[in-house]
Order: sequence, then structure tokens, then C-alpha cells
Amino acid sequence: MKKNIYAMLCGGIMLLGPVACAKAPSEPQTAEVAGAVAGNAEESTPAKNQKILVAYYSYSGNTRAVAQQIAKHIGADLFEINTVEKYPSAYGELTNQAKQEINAGFKPALSAQVENMAQYDVVFIGSPNWWGTIAPAVSSFIAQYNWEGKKVAGFFTHGGGGIQNCGRDLKQQLPMAEVLPAVAFPGRSSGAPEKELQAWLKGLKL
Ligand SMILES: Cc1cc2nc3c(=O)[nH]c(=O)nc-3n(C[C@H](O)[C@H](O)[C@H](O)COP(=O)(O)O)c2cc1C
Repeated sequence: MKKNIYAMLCGGIMLLGPVACAKAPSEPQTAEVAGAVAGNAEESTPAKNQKILVAYYSYSGNTRAVAQQIAKHIGADLFEINTVEKYPSAYGELTNQAKQEINAGFKPALSAQVENMAQYDVVFIGSPNWWGTIAPAVSSFIAQYNWEGKKVAGFFTHGGGGIQNCGRDLKQQLPMAEVLPAVAFPGRSSGAPEKELQAWLKGLKL
């Protein structure tokens, strides 16, 4: 059900407005890395002497799957971003609420904080593509911490629209961080294709 959810969403969005379905909803089979397609990689390079956090928000599990893959590859801590108020389970309500929140720049309250953010040198931030941008919960997360001196790498999952404005908007909200090239994968419960994920990780040169 969740896998086909964006096809349903696009049908609804076409009636409501052009925000999210600017691209044809055919699923790209490759990752988008800052607007380009990732090359091949032998292995992702594990980071040396750096403390790394993978923080993510995931409504239906796709971004969580990618976050877990990244954390496993580079030996990072994992943090799930959760809202105090749960989003509706009815899909139409969810998309309407998400659209209103994004248009209003609303930042929902989060249920937990990273204990010692100061210890991390690198933070991966993951979000589903919601209406072409990052989910409001991720904006709340970003607003809570001091990003000075940190490297941040964004990763996104989408339902066919690709990265759209996710990378750009993440960067805009992180003026104090060194923002590395972001990546977007088609949303799947099984996560990202291994080869493409590793190519992106290697390209970050951590
Ligand atoms: C409120 C909402 C808005 C969405 N908007 C878009 C969109 O604009 N473009 C797109 O490609 N996918 C869109 N999707 C699909 C999700 O990005 C995709 O299913 C993603 O993999 C979900 O990640 P998650 O399982 O971690 O929540 C949207 C989904 C939801 C729930």
C-alpha cells in the first residue's frame, strides 16, 4: 500500500496544484546526487577520527531504511526525529496537513533531542520529499541545534519526483554548516541500491 502511495498522491495533487508532481511520476532507477547521477564505487570510505550521527525523519519507513544502511556503512549513531503530535494516518489528511505546514513554515514540536550534539563532526540528515521539499519535522530538528563547524550531508527518499528542492532547502536552513552534496533515492522499504549509496558516501570524502 505505502509503496504505491505516491501514485495516489500525484492523482490528488494534480487536482490541488502543481507543487509536488512537477516531474513525471515514473520512478528513476538511479540516485540523484546534487543534480547528477552517481558513478560507481568500489567501497564507501569509513570516516577516521570523526564522530558521525545519522538523523532522519520517516513517516512510512523508506527514509529509515536508508538511514540504517548509512549508519551501518560508516559506523554512525542513529537518531529518529519524531513529532509530539502524530500525523494523520489517512493519506488525504496527511497530504493536506503537510501542505499547509510547509506553506506556513510551521515547525512541529519534536518528542526527543540529541543528547550531546556538540560531540558530532558530521551529521547526515534524512527526510522524505514532501511537496518537493524537506518534511517540517526536519526543519524543526535543524532549528534546534548549533551547526557551526559541522559537516552536513542530506539524503532523501521520494515517490518519483526526485530531489526537487530538498537539497536546496536543506542548505538554506543550515547557513552555519558545511553542506556536502545531497542525494535522493526512490523510496523503497528495502532502502537504497547498495552500489549507488556507496558511490555517494565515497564521494563525500569524509
Ligand atoms: C505529504 C507527502 C508529500 C509527498 N510529496 C512528494 C513529492 O512532492 N515528490 C515526491 O517525489 N514524493 C512525494 N511524496 C512521496 C514520499 O517522498 C516517498 O514515499 C518517501 O519515500 C516516503 O518516505 P518515508 O517512508 O521515509 O516517509 C510525498 C509523500 C507524502 C506523505
